[in-house]
Amino acid sequence: MRITMIGTGYVGLVSGVCLSDFGHDVICVDKAEEKIAKLERGEVPIYEPGLDAILERNVKAGRLQFTTDTAAAVRDADAVFIAVGTPSRRGDGHADLSYVMGAAEDIARSLSGYTVVVTKSTVPVGTNSKVAEVIRATNPQADFDVASNPEFLREGAAIDDFMKPDRVVIGVESERAKEIMGDIYRPLYLRDFPIVYTGLETAEMIKYAANAFLATKISFINEIAALCERVGANVKDVAKGMGLDGRIGNKFLHAGPGYGGSCFPKDTSALARIGQEHGCPMRITETVISVNDAVKRRMVDKVLDLCDGTFNGKTIAVLGVTFKPETDDMRDSPALTIVPALIGGGAKVRVVDPQGRREGEALLPGVSWADDPYEASEGAHALLILTEWNEFRALDLQRLSQAMSTPRMADLRNIYNRKDVLDAGFLAYEGVGR
Ligand code: UDX
Repeated sequence: MRITMIGTGYVGLVSGVCLSDFGHDVICVDKAEEKIAKLERGEVPIYEPGLDAILERNVKAGRLQFTTDTAAAVRDADAVFIAVGTPSRRGDGHADLSYVMGAAEDIARSLSGYTVVVTKSTVPVGTNSKVAEVIRATNPQADFDVASNPEFLREGAAIDDFMKPDRVVIGVESERAKEIMGDIYRPLYLRDFPIVYTGLETAEMIKYAANAFLATKISFINEIAALCERVGANVKDVAKGMGLDGRIGNKFLHAGPGYGGSCFPKDTSALARIGQEHGCPMRITETVISVNDAVKRRMVDKVLDLCDGTFNGKTIAVLGVTFKPETDDMRDSPALTIVPALIGGGAKVRVVDPQGRREGEALLPGVSWADDPYEASEGAHALLILTEWNEFRALDLQRLSQAMSTPRMADLRNIYNRKDVLDAGFLAYEGVGR
């Protein structure tokens, strides 16, 4: 199949590269010339483990190209995917669809021959129908159908999630479109990965409902964690005991400093908006959002307690600022709330993050950057673990406690055991929910 991918961000680039690895001829399009130039040099502009090797292999095989020329890329395509950003409009939680509709117009002007226009970006329910209206209005002669194909890619595991998905969701309204989409995903179909065919609105809703439910699990366990601290229970064991129930499952029950990323915050607020607009408030999702905000504030209070009630004059080492490990993405990372609060309270903050510095430098003004946890901990009054990078999982706790002026640890990802940390010479240890 000839496939065009509009947008080379986290979703578009991973999807385009993986579709070329299925054997399809893929052209990835982006308006950002410097991004396309980098990609044509074989440089990957995002950190996604394994992506560079697959990209190189398919460029060499002549199945993967990059261009800024939408018209040329659309003309002969069997399917054109829209994978542009749908950021939250500041303040009102609305998903900003201007990039999606702009792409739809660009595509409409260049369509020739039957083409399926697939929206992969996460979009409010009803958007695929609006994309069809925009295309029809822009090019009344166009012979096309739209399809909804939401992504379920976790950053840091995106290749695996694309190649071995729990399911592929496809919203279509015609047999022709269903046939094209079936051909695109045949490599997965032949390996028995479930493909769910449904209507456009249902496919759009599946994406929001899935992400909002995962966020609900996280806010739920984070609330339970706060109560565990009060009653002397251990949230890790609570999560284990809960998760062994097959109806609950053990995933997404890790208590921490709150969820971040480019999806959960955006998708939960968009779903809440959609509910309000249709007079059907998503009260659980609204609560999930407010709980998540409260969790981040509770983490600051936890560190404040560890620092005897004031950050003034304190030096705090922060391990990890990306919203999760194995990514360089800082979008809505809890660090963007917690670190400024430490600085605002008078602390000096030293940050270590294997991939976070590239974006973090601009987003976290006022911090200094260290190359490793031991350097960051020199003379520090507290050590704060914010992101559970593997590099932070087997630190020499003795060396850390000797380097610090008052060795105290706030382990917000529950990586270590209190006993081990105190035995290594720390004066205090604070986990989450235990
Ligand atoms: C998520 C969804 O998992 C994915 O299916 C969707 O397509 C995009 O959004 P992603 O945002 O990349 O993926 O990361 P994910 O691994 O889901 O984690 C999201 C946030 O939740 C991170 O901040 C993570 O630290 C946090 N989290 C996750 C927890 O706090 N506890 C958990 O148990 C799991």
